[in-house]
Amino acid sequence: MRAAVLFQENHPLEVVEVDLAEPGPGEVRVRLAATGLCASDWHTMTGAIPSPTPSVLGHEGAGVVSSVGDGVERVAPGDHVVLSWVPSCGHCRYCESGRPNLCATATPALLAGTLVSGARRLSYRGSPLYHYSFLSTFAEETVVDEAACVKIRKDVSLSVAALVGCAVTTGYGAVVNRARVEPGSTVVVLGAGGVGLSAVMAAGCSGARHVLAVEPEFSKRQLASEVGATHVVDPGGEDVAGLVRSLSGGEGADVVIEAAGRPELVAEAFGLTRRGGTVVCVGVPPVGAVVSLPGPDLVRHEKVVTGSLYGSCRPHSDMPRILDLYAEGRLPLDRLVTRTYALEEINAGFADLVSGRLARGVVALAEAPGGDARRPGGG
Ligand SMILES: NC(=O)c1ccc[n+]([C@@H]2O[C@H](COP(=O)([O-])OP(=O)(O)OC[C@H]3O[C@@H](n4cnc5c(N)ncnc54)[C@H](O)[C@@H]3O)[C@@H](O)[C@H]2O)c1
Ligand SMILES: [Zn+2]
Ligand SMILES: [Zn+2]
Repeated sequence: MRAAVLFQENHPLEVVEVDLAEPGPGEVRVRLAATGLCASDWHTMTGAIPSPTPSVLGHEGAGVVSSVGDGVERVAPGDHVVLSWVPSCGHCRYCESGRPNLCATATPALLAGTLVSGARRLSYRGSPLYHYSFLSTFAEETVVDEAACVKIRKDVSLSVAALVGCAVTTGYGAVVNRARVEPGSTVVVLGAGGVGLSAVMAAGCSGARHVLAVEPEFSKRQLASEVGATHVVDPGGEDVAGLVRSLSGGEGADVVIEAAGRPELVAEAFGLTRRGGTVVCVGVPPVGAVVSLPGPDLVRHEKVVTGSLYGSCRPHSDMPRILDLYAEGRLPLDRLVTRTYALEEINAGFADLVSGRLARGVVALAEAPGGDARRPGGG
């Protein structure tokens, strides 16, 4: 099968024929239909977030189960799945307390570039390749751990489902799971890429009264206003703080989501938030970045500043639920796809990503079976 291989950091991906071994016990083989291009893959290509090479990158994918290894119970051949990059163990203190996104049981295997068992199923000309984020979705097929397979309804587009594997769940979950946005709230989202736009949609879906998207790129501000932002702001020239104050009776926003990955924006987010409000940091700043906040206000204003990893999600319940909302027309997730590429065009896709043109770029890997049940305009 074909895969886009990163042989070396700071080199383009190379689309080559690779071999994929059959799934071992507790593993699942998936024929991928689509994969999204995420900034995190790019950070690995440049070495900013190192991962062992040569490897097959990609961690935002969906497809159809083609075979299963011994003992697999969660999915069967023919099932449609979104792939989750946190194959949680199910029995550590985090899994037990309903926070499987914080399960660190598999972290050593993540860093080693293998599946959870330590196995590698990918190879090129007889030499093993490393996996990436347990998923390696820049390929026509992949072998993943059973825990990474989230079974989904069969009547939604697998291109849209792929985005639920990272950007959508991250942005949606920051709003719904972490900030727990209430109806009537004022929500500010800093950065309207795939993650921020998903947060904008989720805020609208949660009944927020004012949803402000702050984004320097004109085309993304426009898209934000089409998918639920009540106000869009260019941080380069407009007075974000003044607008937030005027909309909130001088109080500040109930919730501010940082989805740009710029550490200096965390202090700005803090300043935009009302007393007792919540700042959710979703963007991942560069390694070594430090965030500083005004100390007295941190105490006196009782603001909550929190991170959110993978939308603080429980993948097996949240991802199907997100796709139900999509199918009902309440989350226009298909609007995130700016452009679709063939696997051979993947480097052009990353060039577009770096240029800031994409809300999300998607690589189509196989003809997706079935149709798309979405009923547009449902709410
Ligand atoms: N926490 C998690 O689990 C998780 C998961 C996936 C991605 N991420 C991170 O989330 C961030 C967003 O991901 P993405 O894929 O949407 O990236 P993206 O690059 O598509 O979006 C970031 C957006 O921020 C905008 N931006 C730049 N400067 C800005 C400013 N001063 N004010 C407001 N907006 C500004 C950019 O124009 C861009 O549209 C990245 O840092 C990514 O690594 C985190
Ligand atoms: Zn991602
Ligand atoms: Zn666990």
